[in-house]
Amino acid sequence: MISPDQEIYSTIEKSLAKEAGCRFTGKQGTVAGVNGSAIPLVGRNDVVLFDLDESDDNLLQSARDICEARRPNAIIIALASDNLPLEKARQLRRIGVDDVLPRNSVQDEIIPQVQSIRERREAQLPAIWGGHATQGKVIAVAQSRGGVGSSILAANLANELQDKQGFFKKKAKNDVALVDLDFQFGSLAAMMDVEESDAMWRMAMEGSIPDSAFLEQAMTKSKCGVDVLPAPSRYGPLNAIKEEQVSAILDSLKRSHDYIVVDLPRALVEWLTPVLTQADRLYLVTDVSVPSVRSARKLMDFYQAENPALEIQLVASFEKKPLIQAAHHRAATKLLDKEFSYWVPKDERTTREALDRGVPLHDVSSRAPLTKTIRKMALDMSHALPPRAGHH
Ligand SMILES: Nc1ncnc2c1ncn2[C@@H]1O[C@H](COP(=O)(O)OP(=O)(O)OP(=O)(O)O)[C@@H](O)[C@H]1O
Ligand SMILES: [Mg+2]
Repeated sequence: MISPDQEIYSTIEKSLAKEAGCRFTGKQGTVAGVNGSAIPLVGRNDVVLFDLDESDDNLLQSARDICEARRPNAIIIALASDNLPLEKARQLRRIGVDDVLPRNSVQDEIIPQVQSIRERREAQLPAIWGGHATQGKVIAVAQSRGGVGSSILAANLANELQDKQGFFKKKAKNDVALVDLDFQFGSLAAMMDVEESDAMWRMAMEGSIPDSAFLEQAMTKSKCGVDVLPAPSRYGPLNAIKEEQVSAILDSLKRSHDYIVVDLPRALVEWLTPVLTQADRLYLVTDVSVPSVRSARKLMDFYQAENPALEIQLVASFEKKPLIQAAHHRAATKLLDKEFSYWVPKDERTTREALDRGVPLHDVSSRAPLTKTIRKMALDMSHALPPRAGHH
């Protein structure tokens, strides 16, 4: 524990003293204040709590120093005031802080939190549990109406996120998984030219909890390198899948891949909850027509209610970014109360050829504005949400 506050220090010491198998050490002071001695302390402990000095301009840097000094399995928890902005909390999580707890409820929360971390770690052995920074990032792609181009976007975003290097662009820097959760009508298998599979259907019918062995068997590597979990080849009712199953798929993939792109169905089913809570970002694809924008608004409200911290980015499809926004663009932005982050241009020729050949847009034309837009999305994403730390 690193905190300048004598009171909180003794509170935590007392709560933890009753825990068996738990040894407590601390440094009284701010992270910056006790610098030099804070960092070695971090490297010697399994759970590190530190007080955020919210007046410190270098707050993020201090947090980063702590995360970098952690031993492989260590859990980093920051203590903050109640009014820490959501955006700050999210930045901290991105750096690798496992959780941010409000200072004044720490007494009640610290024990359950440490326990749940221990359980989680035991469940995940022998894989290393090292917090958010060493886990893959979950990216959900949703659509405001059918046929708006969201699956093509998801598939090609997955391909670009591999960040292929080398002269022939053969060597992927990142491991990327593509999960087709459009359970009934998913088309990613055809799009990526992989075998259809009924693995998901069997999982749904048997009610089994998928593990890494299941995923290894159910997923197929496409020619472009992306690991695809296809929607079932047989028809099954939408509510056949359970939340715990979707949760387990994502948990497992976060350990084996840098990015997990999830193509969502348009139906609002219960098992969307684990995706929405685990997603690091959601792209909502819509065209700029009144009915689509209206349903986009409804979906945004639903997603945000499920997970207020979820970062939603709007993608306008079938249109290149207008130089001057027309009235209907302005009306859409007003109704959505949010600007479009990306504009995906229409390109029937490239799309059709890619679909016919079962290859990514990149292989048909790497210079087409459509391909370039998706590549830019992947690039922005890899800056905002870096691949797993320490993996490569
Ligand atoms: N950028 C684009 N330019 C031109 N046509 C496109 C573009 N993106 C998608 N399309 C066309 O729209 C069709 C639907 O694309 P896609 O399957 O990606 O949409 P979707 O939103 O996932 O649809 P669904 O509701 O069926 O899941 C494709 O067959 C393709 O022909
Ligand atoms: Mg689709």
